[in-house]
Amino acid sequence: MSRIKYVYGNWKMNQGLKEIETFFEELSENQKDWKCVFGIAPQFLHLSKVLNSTQNMNVKVGAQNCSHKESGAFTGDISPVSLKELGCDFVIIGHSERRAFFKESHEVINEKTKLALSLGLEVVFCIGETLEQREAGKVEDVLKEQITKGLEGLTAKDLENVVIAYEPVWAIGTGVTATPEQAEETHAMIRSFLDSDTAFNASTTSILYGGSVKPSNVEGLLSNENIDGALVGGASLKAQDFNALCEEASKLS
Ligand code: PGA
Repeated sequence: MSRIKYVYGNWKMNQGLKEIETFFEELSENQKDWKCVFGIAPQFLHLSKVLNSTQNMNVKVGAQNCSHKESGAFTGDISPVSLKELGCDFVIIGHSERRAFFKESHEVINEKTKLALSLGLEVVFCIGETLEQREAGKVEDVLKEQITKGLEGLTAKDLENVVIAYEPVWAIGTGVTATPEQAEETHAMIRSFLDSDTAFNASTTSILYGGSVKPSNVEGLLSNENIDGALVGGASLKAQDFNALCEEASKLS
């Protein structure tokens, strides 16, 4: 079964206003013809600017996180209701940096996911093991637990709007990428788990890979049967690299 490929850029806490302008000026004219799904998740404060800059483009725009509640006394939090109202298409939930630095639990990730989906946002649901867990042979257990607990209680209909992003923690921002074989093996395991144990329609679910994806390794990764795209940090910051990633994903879509 061939699924359309994705390239989602996670800008994290990077890019100032000037860099954002340059990025969209330099985004390839060819974007009109790209067959892949592509999108950018800037910092919250820059969502409006990115939405304005992309009005006539096919670029999807997403947030890197959201609150687990719609409204109320949650100082400093960002409601997914406001994200939807603003025009966001997707939200990244459960990124390993949120799990590690902000101590996000499976339960809170589950709450955020349910809420975002109920509002009509696509959820890019991140999972991934640490190096220690990989070396201890626990990859399968860790990923299954993240999926089972994080997506608990979701219906098959909800899950149609979930994209899984497998991001081994040891490959994020380190320059060390999982080999295409390692990534494909893990993606195949994830897909067969989704098939056997969840309400997912596993054959249509998109599973993206993330962790030091760049123009030089994207083809090797995305040409695998079970790797449906990339969630990209560092290499999504420069339009030239992002263009190259999307050109490749488009060819493979
Ligand atoms: P990286 O980040 O591409 O810089 O490794 C990926 C991510 O964290 O989504």
